Amino acid sequence: MDDIYSRIAGIGSYLPEKILTNAGMEAIVETSDAWIRERTGIEQRHIAADDELTSDMGVAAARRALEAAGIDASDVDLIVVATATPDLTFPATATIVQEKLGITQGAAFDVHAVCSGFLYALTTADNFIRCGQAKTAVVIGAETFSRILDWTDRTTCVLFGDGAGAAVLTAEPGKPDAGKGVLKTHLRSDGRFKDLLYVDGGPSATKTVGHLRMQGNQVFRHAVTKIAGSMQELADQAGVSISEIDWFVPHQANQRILLGVSKKLGIPEEKVISTVARHGNTSAASIPLAFDAAIQDGRIKRGDLVLMEALGGGFTWGAALARY
Ligand code: UT7
Repeated sequence: MDDIYSRIAGIGSYLPEKILTNAGMEAIVETSDAWIRERTGIEQRHIAADDELTSDMGVAAARRALEAAGIDASDVDLIVVATATPDLTFPATATIVQEKLGITQGAAFDVHAVCSGFLYALTTADNFIRCGQAKTAVVIGAETFSRILDWTDRTTCVLFGDGAGAAVLTAEPGKPDAGKGVLKTHLRSDGRFKDLLYVDGGPSATKTVGHLRMQGNQVFRHAVTKIAGSMQELADQAGVSISEIDWFVPHQANQRILLGVSKKLGIPEEKVISTVARHGNTSAASIPLAFDAAIQDGRIKRGDLVLMEALGGGFTWGAALARY
C-alpha cells in the first residue's frame, strides 16, 4: 500500500450569538465573577438559541472549514462528529450534518469521548485516511452542553458553554510521519474514573437525558498528570522535543489546568492558546475552536507544529501532534 498522510486542509468554527457573562451567572446561581475568574479563568460563555441544535453548529463550523480548505462539500467522503450532546439518541448527529451539507456519498458517524472527543474523532479520521478508506474527511467537535447542565448546581453550570469547531483532512501521498499534517496521536481511557464526571441519565439506564455531574477537584487532580504524561509519551513516540512545538492548543477546561500542564512540560506561556475566558469549556468543540481562533488572529501559521491535548469523562484523554 502506498504511503498516505492526512493534511489539515482547513479549520473553521462557530459560536452561538448569545453570550452569558459571569455577571449573568450571578443572577442564576449563588456565585461571583471573582470566584469564576480566579478558579477557572472563564469570563463568559456562548449559549445556543432554543432552536439551535448541535448539528446546526456542526454544519456552520464544517462550512467554514470547507471554505478555508477551498473544498466543495461534494468531495467529502467521511464525516466524524465528536459530541456528547447529540441532536437525538439516534440517528448519529453526523448523518444529520451530512444531510444538511447535501452530501450523499461516503460514511458519517459519531464518536463519544466527551471533552477528548475531538482527539478521538481526529485519530479515527486520520486512520481512515492512512489506510485508504477515505480521501476527504470532515472532523467536527460540536456541543450544546447548556442542555445537560443542572442550572441550580453552581459547581458545574458556570463552567460550560456551547459551540462547534471542524477540521477538513485530505489524503496526500507521502509518509505519515514526514513532518506534515497529522503526525501522531495518542489516546487513552480508564473507566475506573467514570463516576468522577458523568451524566446521570441516558436511554438505557433512566430513559431520560440527565444532567452533568462532576467532582471537579478530583478531576482537576488527575487532569494535569494524565494530560502531561500523554503529551510526553506522544512527543517521545514522534521523536519530537517539546521545545520544538510552536503552539500548544489544549482542551479549554480551566486556565489553571492548561497552565499547569504547560508548566510541567516547560512550554512557555506565550505558546499556549487559551480561549477559556471567552468560550468556557465547550467539551469536544474546544480544541478546534481554539485552533481556529489562533489561525484567525494570525498566531498559528502554515507549517507550524501544533500539540493538542484533552481529558474528559470516562476518563478519556490523549494528545495529537500535527503540522498545520
Ligand atoms: O473538561 C472536562 C474536564 N473537567 C475539568 O477539567 C474540570 C476540572 N476541575 C476544575 O476545573 C475545578 O476543580 C473547578 C473549577 C470545577 C472547581 O475549582 P476548585 O478550586 O477545585 O474548587 P472546589 O471544587 O474545591 O470548591 C471550592 C469551594 C467550595 O466551597 P467550600 O466547600 O470550600 O466552602 C465550593 O462549594 O468553592 C465553592 N464553589 C463555588 N463558589 C462560588 C464551587 N463552585 C462555586 C461557584 N461559585 N460557581
